[in-house]
Amino acid sequence: MTTTFPIEEKINTLLRQMTLNEKIGQMNQLSGTNEYNEEMIRKGAVGSFLNVSDVDDAKRYQKLAVEETRLGIPLVMARDVIHGFKTLFPIPLAQSCSWNEGLIEEGCHIAAKEAKAHGYHWTFAPMIDISRDPRWGRIAESLGEDPLLCGRLGAAMVRGFQGDDPAADDRLAACAKHLVGYGAAEGGRDYNTTIIPERSMRDTYLPPFKASVDAGALTMMSAFNEINDIPASANHFTLKQILRDEWKYDGMVVSDWGSVTEMISHGFAQDEKESAKEAINAGIDMEMVTGSYVKHAKELLAEGAISMETIDNAVRNVLRLKFRLNLFENPYFTGDTEEVTLCQSHLDAARKAARESMVLLKNNYMLPLKAENTVALIGPLTHAKEDQVGCWSMDLVSESSVTVKEAFESSAFSTTFAAGLDSPRSTETKGFAKAIANAHNADIAVMIVGEDAILSGESHSRAFIDLPGKQTQLIEAVAATGTKVVLVVMAGRPLTLGSVLDKVDAILYAWHPGTMAGPAVLDLLSGIESPSGRLTVSFPHTVGQIPVYYSRKNTGRPPREEDRGIPAGTPLNPEGFASYYLDVDFRAQFPFGFGLTYSTVTYSTPSLSTNSISTTGSLTAFCEITNTGDTPIHEVVQLYVRDLVGTVTRPIKELKDFKRVALAPGETATVKFTLTADQLAFHNRDMQRVVESGEFHLWIAPHSEAGDPVSFTVKT
Ligand code: NOJ
Repeated sequence: MTTTFPIEEKINTLLRQMTLNEKIGQMNQLSGTNEYNEEMIRKGAVGSFLNVSDVDDAKRYQKLAVEETRLGIPLVMARDVIHGFKTLFPIPLAQSCSWNEGLIEEGCHIAAKEAKAHGYHWTFAPMIDISRDPRWGRIAESLGEDPLLCGRLGAAMVRGFQGDDPAADDRLAACAKHLVGYGAAEGGRDYNTTIIPERSMRDTYLPPFKASVDAGALTMMSAFNEINDIPASANHFTLKQILRDEWKYDGMVVSDWGSVTEMISHGFAQDEKESAKEAINAGIDMEMVTGSYVKHAKELLAEGAISMETIDNAVRNVLRLKFRLNLFENPYFTGDTEEVTLCQSHLDAARKAARESMVLLKNNYMLPLKAENTVALIGPLTHAKEDQVGCWSMDLVSESSVTVKEAFESSAFSTTFAAGLDSPRSTETKGFAKAIANAHNADIAVMIVGEDAILSGESHSRAFIDLPGKQTQLIEAVAATGTKVVLVVMAGRPLTLGSVLDKVDAILYAWHPGTMAGPAVLDLLSGIESPSGRLTVSFPHTVGQIPVYYSRKNTGRPPREEDRGIPAGTPLNPEGFASYYLDVDFRAQFPFGFGLTYSTVTYSTPSLSTNSISTTGSLTAFCEITNTGDTPIHEVVQLYVRDLVGTVTRPIKELKDFKRVALAPGETATVKFTLTADQLAFHNRDMQRVVESGEFHLWIAPHSEAGDPVSFTVKT
């Protein structure tokens, strides 16, 4: 008869048998395969690996750990499975534009299934850094600018990776990253300094992490950046006070790659030993790749710079992860990689995700295309198997990507193809002539332009965020033929399209859509389905406007209505002393929440179950939404609130809820939201989370700048 002991008992039993070296070994994570790494396993000096990309190597390493170390503690194998594994889904920023939690959850489940079969137990996702700067390359990996949306979608990702049992054959442990504030990098330059007041930290940057904790994320990753002069990986306020003391988190915290020893460059630690001390004392349980714990923890303990209790707690957190993943019982699981990888159901799910992620920004009655249209496919991303998948595609099988060219050529459309430019960054225009000739001879030019995958992602920030290379000139040349242009933009960030916006008749913002980019673009352009994506980041008119986000403050001199619509670059005659630019609209080019469909929708004025609630009460808000066109659509209905007067200043709008609603032609749906007073809480002057009494405005609208509000009050 076997007795099952609770995990904490098992951890303590094991901990009692471990030597100091074995404990420190569990706190060490190495990368890849080499002789040194094997030697470290045999010595019990490593607890985890990332990037062991061959499934046989992974098995061999596990065998060494389980069979050739004194205590046989299994390794936990990690990989950045960010937007799919072999079947690549749209980049996370694109996925967020679906506002579809179920779809996102399913995509992560599929990614987990493929990765688990290849020997991985743990992914470094979701990235839930609030991102309000499109210069920052990692905006591609984010879920956008809004704390509520980012929290809800991040939690969906955690559920998708982990399921009910992260130890199951089709699941992985998730890792919410990067704690915290990484997306606030000054100037959008990756790894740069962040300055985040505590209230913004608590009301804006931390809520998605709390949502991941509540969703059961087994691990967290600390960030590279400094926060208010203290590196995030040595930050007692975020890692200890908030994560452990306030949230009672009992998962494992891993550093980011090198973020421990980078404290030396930050000017925060004088050497690796001091970095190790700072990170261990801040509660970084596992060090990713730089090995300073293994080199110095023993000495630090002997000197009293770290305590045995701190080490034991870190090791407990590592072992807890391994028990939760059932690695002691089942260390060798790898699935049938052939069967699960890139199988039809995964490709179908990736196609649906890509379809729902794309955002229609403009449509002068050009879309959907008519079956009889002859189409000139033009542009460097029309047939770019590696660029269409986006930034995290280490496990890509490039032949599996289906391009727009391939999808159209196997459809009923009559098409021609000319790339025009060899790559998005190319400045060589010799391909223009063929593109122009093809455009002349077609009814419509469908131009697939944007950024190569390498222009976004980690350390790939840009100061100019327009179309790179000579793509603008290519679009102008094609538009000059008089043939109507439909633009499909594949990119890892919002781009400033400038003059191009007026030269084309339709714009579908496809982001980097993944393996099934081609079929998904075809589905939407041909009208098999209407676009339904909505922006989760505001698009600036120009870089000089950044940061631009919808939940801004009003200021003491809010801009007036007449200060909008200023043509970009045209200085206005200064008329007043308000908070606007002389040469560009103060608002976004395309606001948060915006996206068109192939239909039109009307929203009624919201009605409320009551106009007055207590600080513990709730109300129900209703809105009638009618599809007034002749196309079935999905509408993303958004609930916003404004707290008119607070004891601290409050944003002009905050998203509080949303629903994706299917509407047949002519159909009216009553959309209902329950809003609790607790959803109105924020941190006051004393940094207490409170609901304050007063007047509020409420909108139910298709995007963050639409609709008229109704009022309600909160009474004590
Ligand atoms: C550095 C990145 O910042 C992090 O997100 C990633 O998970 C690690 N490298 C591991 O590759």
